[in-house]
Amino acid sequence: MQKIRAAITAVNTYVPDYILTNKELETIVDTTEEWIMTRVGIRERHILKGEGLGTSDMAAPAVRGLLEKRGITPDEVDLLICATVTPDMLFPATANIISDKVGIKNAFSFDLNAACSGFIYALITASKYIESGLYKKVVVVGADKMSSITDFTDRATCVIFGDAAGAVLLEPATDGNGIIDAILKTDGCGRIHLHQKAGGSCKPPTHATIDAREHYIYQEGQPVFKAAVQNMADTAVEIMKRNDLNNQNIAWLIPHQANMRIIDATAKRMELPKEKVTINIDRYGNTTNATIPLCMHEWEKQFKKGDNIILAAFGGGFTWGTIYLKWAY
Ligand code: UT7
Repeated sequence: MQKIRAAITAVNTYVPDYILTNKELETIVDTTEEWIMTRVGIRERHILKGEGLGTSDMAAPAVRGLLEKRGITPDEVDLLICATVTPDMLFPATANIISDKVGIKNAFSFDLNAACSGFIYALITASKYIESGLYKKVVVVGADKMSSITDFTDRATCVIFGDAAGAVLLEPATDGNGIIDAILKTDGCGRIHLHQKAGGSCKPPTHATIDAREHYIYQEGQPVFKAAVQNMADTAVEIMKRNDLNNQNIAWLIPHQANMRIIDATAKRMELPKEKVTINIDRYGNTTNATIPLCMHEWEKQFKKGDNIILAAFGGGFTWGTIYLKWAY
């Protein structure tokens, strides 16, 4: 019998209504549409508005729609993993809250935090449960309300991020499709360049941490940019080599959407033409854990069964990696 692989069998997303344009940002901080477009490649991003609404309020509709799309009931889900850096609360896990909101009662669920690489880390974690043969239906969510940790007085970060949620269903496949290979990496030294200073156990919230604006994203753009370009491409090229992949037999690259220039550099190192790269950063910005499922959902109709697809991500931590999968439907 063929090896059991974990295959993505459905994908769905939720994007909040409110659109924050570069023009509006020009009225908030000292920036220009031209700078944002040329340095990052973002035209607009979506923001979740409404008091008391959090990451689970985007993730729950994404998961509900996912199950409907696949024609299964919440009771059939065995496991739900939520990749996020903006949990509803520090605990319990947002995965538990999503499960409760969707009516998933027969599953266990947990959060996974690997910053912008969280979705691919979660996908590989979930795939192992499927490959074990013990779990048949696993939901992987990538969701972030980045606006909840964005400092709208800091022009270097507030133009970059957006809010969204995406979810995929993983099921066993024995026809050769599904997740084939992955390279996942971490380098904790990178934490100095991208983090949230306060709110954790080292620096619990105080009036002083709030006054110092330490509950927002802190990013030193250039070192993160350099590490992203180098590492995302290195792992993508390595996975290509060890699976005999090239610019002919790869159908699609689905990269994390952090900066148009990082995406271009990765595609160039892989020698892939732009037509094979999914890019929607212009309309959503960097939605952290939601970028890859947002692309998957948008390009879903163009994917064909058996297509060789590479996922690549880089994020805070530092964390990064690549997945090679064969599209299953
Ligand atoms: O998703 C997880 C990982 N994150 C990433 O991968 C992000 C990686 N980094 C980047 O994408 C880029 O470094 C940024 C988009 C964050 C910044 O772009 P950059 O080309 O590296 O700009 P910079 O930080 O070197 O700043 C260049 C100039 C500075 O002005 P001076 O010092 O040259 O006068 C900044 O103050 O651009 C200025 N600047 C801005 N100007 C207009 C920074 N932000 C803005 C802005 N509008 N929004």
